[in-house]
Amino acid sequence: MTLRNLIIGMMMAAPALQAATPVYLDESKPLEDRVEDALSRMTLEEKVAIIHAQSKFSAPGVPRLGIPELWTTDGPMGVRPEVLWDEWEQAEWTNDSCTAFPSLTCLAATWNPEMAKLYGKSIGEEARFRNKSVLLGPGVNIYRTPLCGRNFEYMGEDPYLASRMVVPYVNGVQDNGVSVCVKHFALNNNEINRHTSNPIVDDRTLYEIYLPAFKAAATEGNAWSFMGGYNLFRGQHASYNPILMNDILKGEWGWDGAVISDWGAVHDTKSAVEGGLDMEFGSWTDGLAGGASNAYDNYWLAKPYLKGIQDGTYSEEQLNDKVRRVLRLTMRTAMDRNRPWGSMVSDEHKAACRQIGGEGIVLLQNKNNLLPVNTDKVKKIAVIGENAIKMMTVGGGSSSLKAKYEITPLDGLKARLGDKAEIVYARGYVGDPTGEYNGVVTGQNLEDPRSPEELAAEAEKVAREADIVLFFGGLNKSGHQDCEDTDRLGLELPYGQDALIERIVAANPNTAFINISGTGVAMPWASKVPAIMQAWYLGNETGNAIADVISGDVNPSGKLPYTYYATLDQCGAHKLGAYPGTPGVDVLGNEVMDMPYNEGIYVGYRFIDKNKLKPTFPFGHGLSYTTFEYGKPTVSKSVMTPDETVTVSVPVTNTGSRSGQEVVQLYIRDLKSSVDRPVKELKGFEKVDLAPGQTKVVHFEIGKDALSFFDADRHEWVAEPGKFEAVIGASSADVRGSVPFTLK
Ligand code: GLC
Repeated sequence: MTLRNLIIGMMMAAPALQAATPVYLDESKPLEDRVEDALSRMTLEEKVAIIHAQSKFSAPGVPRLGIPELWTTDGPMGVRPEVLWDEWEQAEWTNDSCTAFPSLTCLAATWNPEMAKLYGKSIGEEARFRNKSVLLGPGVNIYRTPLCGRNFEYMGEDPYLASRMVVPYVNGVQDNGVSVCVKHFALNNNEINRHTSNPIVDDRTLYEIYLPAFKAAATEGNAWSFMGGYNLFRGQHASYNPILMNDILKGEWGWDGAVISDWGAVHDTKSAVEGGLDMEFGSWTDGLAGGASNAYDNYWLAKPYLKGIQDGTYSEEQLNDKVRRVLRLTMRTAMDRNRPWGSMVSDEHKAACRQIGGEGIVLLQNKNNLLPVNTDKVKKIAVIGENAIKMMTVGGGSSSLKAKYEITPLDGLKARLGDKAEIVYARGYVGDPTGEYNGVVTGQNLEDPRSPEELAAEAEKVAREADIVLFFGGLNKSGHQDCEDTDRLGLELPYGQDALIERIVAANPNTAFINISGTGVAMPWASKVPAIMQAWYLGNETGNAIADVISGDVNPSGKLPYTYYATLDQCGAHKLGAYPGTPGVDVLGNEVMDMPYNEGIYVGYRFIDKNKLKPTFPFGHGLSYTTFEYGKPTVSKSVMTPDETVTVSVPVTNTGSRSGQEVVQLYIRDLKSSVDRPVKELKGFEKVDLAPGQTKVVHFEIGKDALSFFDADRHEWVAEPGKFEAVIGASSADVRGSVPFTLK
């Protein structure tokens, strides 16, 4: 046989070989055809195996068919270190240190969807590099109470802001062939009693406040998986709640993704099977409980489910729907051979971390333009507070990370200003000197034997002798602070910071308080401290991002994604007595904690406006080192029909001496409605970059959706004809103009 004939022979055979590629492995075929083909080849045992965990964070796939395992990983702000097969403890790999990105409240505070896309792209690249198919985030639960221990993992109090910010994050991650797992669907708005909390929420509140961000992620972001919450809703666990999963997510929204339980959120087979759950993870947590060699076989969706199908209790068709969703998720991720390769702690990721952090920092107050620090005049800087030196990437629960490095605020300030001014540090107080989570240690030794008075006296002296004081206070990732599985016990700052800041500002009026936290705190001394900044948890580049803003290299442009309440009774959840709830029972008769959401839709600034309250700082507030002037808003037409839109335009001018970004906010006010409505609701925002003296006209297109409320009786969104007002604000409390228009 000559070589020529051999080649001809092979070419002749090629089509036959070509046909041998099964449809489910042929990426040129439509996804649904591939799913059906794979499903048709699977045994009953394989179908049941694929829908539950085989290890702490993975599910088995179908080895016989070459369908790969599905690996998941936390978390919303960085890729968790590898853990041992059945453990929460880290596996002590040496190549899984990551970029810890800023907390999601910081991302929300940028009010910049481009930052959300950059964030998603960057964290998606790290998850891809670590060969994970599902990133267990982002969280978009609503900031209903400032006490929720996981507020730092979410995107604030307003459904519209969270909706606009979650979609680009989802797209950025999934462009890497990594699925998001939007969590915790739904109503997981507190950590206290998180496994038994049973929010009692009316439909209008559910649809107007708690669903929009999830709906945007599902229907606009096309998220490939969701995570059900631990809590209940109307007596049934969220992870398999028929209303949330079957009626709304898969029904009304027509979503084709896979619902993954939270870890240990499944409590029985029948409910899970019928309640729309597709994958069970984390039951009994260590995979070995239940006295079996492999407890994963005893998962609720494992042997008990297989037996139930074999004896006819459950239909195989019901199982097939779950399997289709898991196959779809696998083919969109692990079986996509064209996925990019990802990257880990790249220079781009460092830059992204620093940029997002810098854009998210919120300048809350800046009397006498104390900031930025001008080292022509300032020659001695006092840096005070444990949060200036304490690493924050470790701890806080499942979002804890093994960061490649973490630049603390003090490090960042020394690097940026240390050659122009003397920087003197004083601890001020000892809060939490520990630094370990699931085997990851910060390596810092923050032990300090001195007494509180010695520490405070030293800080007071250092403050008195300096030209300016930068007090780094706030919270940390310890229990009952910004930490999963616990809520805070009050709004106050811990460790006696309130008394200390009063002493410090008395010793030196040129004091700035930089609050390191993921959630709001009480600031009873706010009127005495000239400068106040909200600096979040900023991840690896913390110190650099903070120094960028403190030095003036970066002009702060963040705006608050939630209200800074002065007291808890300015918050509806607490004022109307719906937290933490009262004893009740679930649909199976188990003890739960009923938590009536008596405040209804009046969450955050909606409650503040309705009750004419004055919080410490309002939703949407944030200053700049420059100033902005707003012109008069105008509308393209004064009357619109339901199928038309009206364009609201407003000129904004930078009236200061340096360039800066301003977030122009559009709120809609319904002047007359058949139901009680908030004074105004956020329905648009745009971040504009302006050079000194520059003017840009910002346009908002308003359709009937922005005018609608959810009519629970008709179960649909309704825009009632009548007068509306487009209210333009630099914050929810700083209205710069408004213009009326009518819906016919
Ligand atoms: C945790 C959290 C969830 C996390 C999961 C895996 O309990 O509630 O957000 O992704 O379990 O760690």
